Amino acid sequence: MHFQWYPGHMTKARRMMQENIKLIDLVIELVDARIPVSSRNPDIDELGKNKARLILLNKSDLAEERCNDAWMEYFKKKGYSVVKVNSKKGGGIKSIHGVIQEACKEKIERDRKRGILNRPVRAMVVGIPNVGKSTFINALAGKACAKTGNKPGVTKGKQWIRLNKNVELLDTPGILWPKFEDQSVGLKLAYIGSIKDEILNTEELAAKLCEFLNDKYSGILAEKYDIEESDDGFAMLQEIAKSRHCLVKGNEYDTEKAAKLMLDDFRNGRLGRITLEFPDEMDA
Ligand code: G4P
Repeated sequence: MHFQWYPGHMTKARRMMQENIKLIDLVIELVDARIPVSSRNPDIDELGKNKARLILLNKSDLAEERCNDAWMEYFKKKGYSVVKVNSKKGGGIKSIHGVIQEACKEKIERDRKRGILNRPVRAMVVGIPNVGKSTFINALAGKACAKTGNKPGVTKGKQWIRLNKNVELLDTPGILWPKFEDQSVGLKLAYIGSIKDEILNTEELAAKLCEFLNDKYSGILAEKYDIEESDDGFAMLQEIAKSRHCLVKGNEYDTEKAAKLMLDDFRNGRLGRITLEFPDEMDA
């Protein structure tokens, strides 16, 4: 799914978020484990101030495990609760309930002092398009979910999914827009397929990704495509086209096809687990 963002979309998304955030105690923010900072919108810190915060490193199955751990430390140091999850396969989902209680313990304690007992924590999932919000909600709510007020004839209002006696989740996630105006952020979002490839043409995008991989994950492309790696991304695309017999009429190499194939392999984890940004770069 690709999204195009216009000021109108952003204003609407922001307004919805501002309204919904008033109703909740906990913001569950999904980021992509391969680009945990570039897949955030820093506005959420302002929108979600005074709320308990939980960051989920989603798609952690596609990112390098050592980096997932480093990113967990990074966010924990900044005061967030953090869990790495694989919403598609359910990895990490079971631990979420415990972490929610932990993240909301101040609120639960405040309630207790006021004599409010057993009021469920209300939570909302937020994140940029394609980060896995719907997949996560389905994984967390599972089959046992009971939607409140979801009966025929009842005006559709806010739908709360009762996860258990302690937690209710707003069924519609909040959509944050990515910070695509920053060139390097836009590039990373394009690598993972979260924004239209138009930021660069496909070949340029794939060539740049080849160069990144040659630099940070040396050997991966050589092994996958049986090619010589170099610091010239276009040369590597030529090599991939040659090795995969991507040809156009006249027996020329079809680097466009090679670029698509390579990006697709990367996005689907067929090049292995790859992280595109690292905590030490952020603090620099
Ligand atoms: P959104 O609501 O935030 O827009 O995202 P959504 O849940 O639609 O998920 C976007 C894509 O990301 C889906 O793939 C989904 O399967 C995939 N996804 C979500 N969580 C994970 C995860 O933890 N690991 C991996 N590997 N993938 C995840 P799709 O290509 O749209 O569909 P499909 O491949 O599932 O058919």
